Amino acid sequence: MLTFVPQEIEDYSIQHTSKLPGYLTDLMELTKTTRDDSMMLSGPIEGTFLQLLVICTRAKRILEIGTFTGFSAQMMAAALPKDGQIITCDIDSETAEIANEYFLKSEHGFKIDQKLGPALETMASLESGFDIIFIDADKENYSSYYERSLELLSDRGMIVIDNVLWGGRVLNPQDDTDKAIASLNERIKNDSRIKHVMLPIRDGVMLVTHDVN
Ligand SMILES: C[S@@+](CC[C@H](N)C(=O)[O-])C[C@H]1O[C@@H](n2cnc3c(N)ncnc32)[C@H](O)[C@@H]1O
Repeated sequence: MLTFVPQEIEDYSIQHTSKLPGYLTDLMELTKTTRDDSMMLSGPIEGTFLQLLVICTRAKRILEIGTFTGFSAQMMAAALPKDGQIITCDIDSETAEIANEYFLKSEHGFKIDQKLGPALETMASLESGFDIIFIDADKENYSSYYERSLELLSDRGMIVIDNVLWGGRVLNPQDDTDKAIASLNERIKNDSRIKHVMLPIRDGVMLVTHDVN
């Protein structure tokens, strides 16, 4: 799992974070044992952090860019009220199938609407009014996801962007992916429309809201 803190501190933090339900520890285990890209899982600390955001902001409409095997979508769905909804999208039909299998195992699965296809196309088809938008897909499109998310976000909604520290490579960007993330971070830093904070949780999490002043 991607993290900047020493493993024993990460483990201690997990031990002092709310326990996951059995079907989600199973999903994490299955993802770790069957997929060599399992480090893409957001994991228990970030997943629970997202869950608390949903609870405290009383979010009802959520958009997730990047479903993978559905872990973060499940964490957020569990915190939504019965009439809440999360739309989650991905281009990978294989992981979408695993995600769907586990959505069906959850009592909160009915709140999750899965879309298969490029995220920018899905985002173009949606109407605004999302309370939380979680961006966690291909980094090269992060700036486009960010701009469209600002249009889709409700007045007091929150955009959550994952991997904004990119293993530290944002300090000295080399390849296109490093540069895409560093460039989004600069864009956000200079954006007068918003308030934002970069948190060094896991691989870096940026929180963004419209500036209400
Ligand atoms: C880091 S993973 C998402 C992890 C997930 N949020 C979780 O916590 O378990 C990124 C996902 O983005 C998907 N992805 C990549 N390019 C995409 C695109 N253009 N549109 C939608 N999804 C895309 C990948 O297939 C992958 O499943």
